[in-house]
Amino acid sequence: NHQWHGVVEEYRDLLDIPAGVEAVTLREGGTPLVHSGWLSRLTGADVHLKVEGDNPTGSFKDRGMTAAISVARHEGAEAVVCASTGNTSASMAAYAAKAGLKPLVLVPEGKIAAGKMAQAIVHGARIIMVRGNFDHCLQMARGLSEDYPVALVNSVNPVRLEGQKTAAFEIVDFLGDAPDVHVLPVGNAGNISAYWLGYRQYADLGRATRRPVMRGFQAEGAAPLVTGEPFPDPETKATAIRIGNPASWQLAVAARDESGGRFAAVSDDQILAAQRDLASRDGVFVEPASAAGVAGLLQELEQGESYAGLTVVVTVTGHGLKDTATALEGLGGVVDTVVDPNVDEAARAAGLG
Ligand code: F0G
Repeated sequence: NHQWHGVVEEYRDLLDIPAGVEAVTLREGGTPLVHSGWLSRLTGADVHLKVEGDNPTGSFKDRGMTAAISVARHEGAEAVVCASTGNTSASMAAYAAKAGLKPLVLVPEGKIAAGKMAQAIVHGARIIMVRGNFDHCLQMARGLSEDYPVALVNSVNPVRLEGQKTAAFEIVDFLGDAPDVHVLPVGNAGNISAYWLGYRQYADLGRATRRPVMRGFQAEGAAPLVTGEPFPDPETKATAIRIGNPASWQLAVAARDESGGRFAAVSDDQILAAQRDLASRDGVFVEPASAAGVAGLLQELEQGESYAGLTVVVTVTGHGLKDTATALEGLGGVVDTVVDPNVDEAARAAGLG
């Protein structure tokens, strides 16, 4: 049959995972590349959105998680652990459920979007709230996996990056070559590192004639890769990227340097404006962190950077339904018209004549 088989089966030959691993899959990957009309007009480029919210649990994390959970089960793990700002935990909980493994989640107290928390709970994760930020949670997850019988599936586990690099493969498979520029949000820096792995591998295999310039965007209040120093108290409304000391720091810097790219910071206001623009102009509802790449692209235009004539891919990393509270925050009072069940009254209220 023609059903998409998930990223482990679709790209098994290109992934560095043990032979014979049976895939634990929810048919992740195969996500759409959606052409953005307004961004293409604004930039003079051909701008495509890689819409990762279309994955089974609503974020790109599923690509890495199918690989990590498949290998963990293959190696005999009975329990898995991760630190998370929400999406990794939602994804891990779902794939662990499918695999019959026990999921243990460490999250910063009070800083996880409601939809993501609901996913982890409903998929059956044991959730520990930590009085601290993501960086503290990751230290604890590492410690737990060293001292107790539980396998770590954060992106410090290289198998995660093997799964996540398939997004770069899909982009080249669809476009016929690598884009000129790839833009994406950066938090713990696993994803930009994984894309770079994928683009390099395809170029080395001759499946692409070039590799893109990588441009990563962080939130102003959590921008260690921009300043070059860890942020002890990261803060941003884009809670998914509220990270002060990214685990894949070195790999991300290598991706930047080898590709001739850069990191830059965008404000929460820019992020939220980009989120609304994507939703109202492209019909693509993403969570705040996911809009950081688009915010960054718009900022570069304002700063005089030219994208004219280029092919640009922007990864939008997670679904807007994950965090409706933040999305609606700035829009109070927009839906405030209540009428009796009467057509003319509705028409008057809607300004239809
Ligand atoms: N966008 C979203 C929606 C995310 O959830 C994350 C990371 C990123 C971007 C940044 O990706 O960390 O690979 O640089 N979320 C992790 C989590 C930290 O726990 O869900 P990155």
